[in-house]
Amino acid sequence: TVVVVDFGSQYSQLIARRVRELRVYSHLVPYDATWETVSSLNPGAVILSGGPSSVYEPNAPRLPKWVLDSGLPVLAICYGLQLIAHEMGGQVAPANVKEYGPAELQVEDESSPLFDGLPKSQRVWMSHGDSVISLPEGFWCIGSTVASPYSVVTNGKIYGLQFHPEVVHTHYGREIISNFLFKIAGLEPVWTPSHFIEESIQRIKDEVGQAKVICALSGGVDSSVAATLIHKAIGDRLVCIFVNNGLLRLNEAEEVLGVLRDQQHLNIRYVDATDRFLSALHGVMDPEEKRKRIGECFIRVFEEEASKLGEIEFLAQGTLYPDVIESATADTKAAAKIKTHHNVGGLPPDLKFKLLEPLKYLFKDEVREVGKNLGLPDHIVYRHPFPGPGLAVRIIGEVTPERLDIVRRCDAIVRQEIEKAGMYREIWQAFAVLTPIRTVGVMGDARTYGYLVAVRAVTSEDAMTAHWARIPHEVLDSIGSRIVNEVHEVTRVVYDITNKPPGTIEWE
Ligand code: XMP
Repeated sequence: TVVVVDFGSQYSQLIARRVRELRVYSHLVPYDATWETVSSLNPGAVILSGGPSSVYEPNAPRLPKWVLDSGLPVLAICYGLQLIAHEMGGQVAPANVKEYGPAELQVEDESSPLFDGLPKSQRVWMSHGDSVISLPEGFWCIGSTVASPYSVVTNGKIYGLQFHPEVVHTHYGREIISNFLFKIAGLEPVWTPSHFIEESIQRIKDEVGQAKVICALSGGVDSSVAATLIHKAIGDRLVCIFVNNGLLRLNEAEEVLGVLRDQQHLNIRYVDATDRFLSALHGVMDPEEKRKRIGECFIRVFEEEASKLGEIEFLAQGTLYPDVIESATADTKAAAKIKTHHNVGGLPPDLKFKLLEPLKYLFKDEVREVGKNLGLPDHIVYRHPFPGPGLAVRIIGEVTPERLDIVRRCDAIVRQEIEKAGMYREIWQAFAVLTPIRTVGVMGDARTYGYLVAVRAVTSEDAMTAHWARIPHEVLDSIGSRIVNEVHEVTRVVYDITNKPPGTIEWE
C-alpha cells in the first residue's frame, strides 16, 4: 500500500488515483492519522500531499512523526516538501514570486532514478505561495525552475517536489510517480480488478458467514457492481430488491432485470410500486416535497419487502471511496470543501442492519473496471448517473402519468441521439426536462399549442461542477426535430447552457 497523507490539497484524491492507475493500491489518510492506523495498511511508501497552509503558521498541520520514524520511502509534494524542509532543519519562506501554472523544470541530476528515462527539460505544473529557501542537511537539489531553485530535492530516501506530478499539466507526472513507486520504493504493480475481485470475494465470505444480505438495486453502476460481487461470494443469500417507482426511464426496469436477473442470475425481488409512488406525488409541486415523499415511499416499500425475508443481518450498499474520504475529512477540516450529499438509495440511517460496502475503497473508474471484469455489459458499466427521485425531478410541477409519459419519450430520444453520435461516454448526464410552459407552434397549416421541453447535457468529473456539453449542432438538430415530430404534446425544444455552479445539473 502507498499511504497518501492528506494535508488538505484539492489534489489529494487525484494522487491516490494516479497511484492506483499504476496498479498499486493507495490509501488516503488524514495528516493526524496514527502509526497504528497506518501500519495496519501494510505501507510500502508514503506520499505527502500539498495543502493550503503555510508551515510557519501556528496551526498548520505538522509532519506526522511516523513518516520519518518508519524509514519508508517518501514522495513529498508541494506543502509536503515544505514540511519536510521545515521539520528537518531547512527553511521555508513566502516566495518572492508566487508560482501558479506551468513552469520549465531543468533536471540537475539525470542519473536520479526519479528522472529515469525522462528528458532534461520538462513542463511541470506549479501552484504555491511558499518556497524552500534552504535545504536540510543531507539533502541536495536534483531539479529546478527559474522561480523555484529547489523544485526537486532528495536525501536518497525522501524525494520532494515543489510541483504537482498528479495533474495532467505536468507532462511527465505519471512517469515521475511511476519511477518513485517502482524504481525507488520497489513496489510491484499488482493491484488489478481481478485481484480486487478475488480479495473481495474472500473478505465478503469471511464477514458475512452464513448470514443473509439485502440490497436495494437501482440499476446504477455502483449498486449493480456491488450486488454482482456479493452474489459471487454468497450466492442467493444476497437478496436484491428492485423497486420500480414508476419514475424510471424508458425500458430501464427491463434492461436492468435482463442483465442482473437473467444473465447474472442474481436473486432479485421485483416490486412494481408505481401506483403507490404516483399517489404519494399527487398534487405535489415542490421539488423538495417530491423528494421527501418519494424517499418515504421507498423506505416503506423496501421495509415491507425486507420483512418478508426473515432474518437479515446485512444491508449492502454501493458506497464509493470519495464518499468515505469526504465524510472522514469533513472532521479534520484540512480541506476547505463543500459538498451536498444526495442520499442515493434513500434509506434511513437508523436501519437495524450492519452495512456491507464492498466498493468503499474504490474510485468510480475502478468500479467500472471491476464491473467489466465481472462480465457486466457496457450499458450498465457506463450508465449515466440517474437521481433516486428519477423523472419526478425532471417534470417541473406536478407529476402525472401523462407528463411522465411525455418526458420519458423525450428522454429516450435524447439518449438515443447522444448514443448515435458516439458521445455517451464523454457526457456525464443527458436528459430532457418537461416544463409546464405551453408555447405556440405550427404543424402543416395548423397552429399547435404544446409543451416546452428543455434538453440538458453536461460534462463533469464528479457532479460537483459541470459544464454544459458542447454537443454538435447537427446532433442538437436531430434531438430537436425528433422530439417535436415524435412527441406530439411538445411544440418547442430549448438547450440548457447553464454551468454548475451556479446552476445545478437537475432542474429541480
Ligand atoms: P445537482 O442537480 O445537485 O445534482 O447538480 C448532482 C448529481 O446528483 C444527482 N441528483 C440526485 N441523486 N437523489 C439522487 O440520488 C436526488 O435527489 C438527486 N438530485 C440530484 C444528479 O442527477 C447529479 O448527478
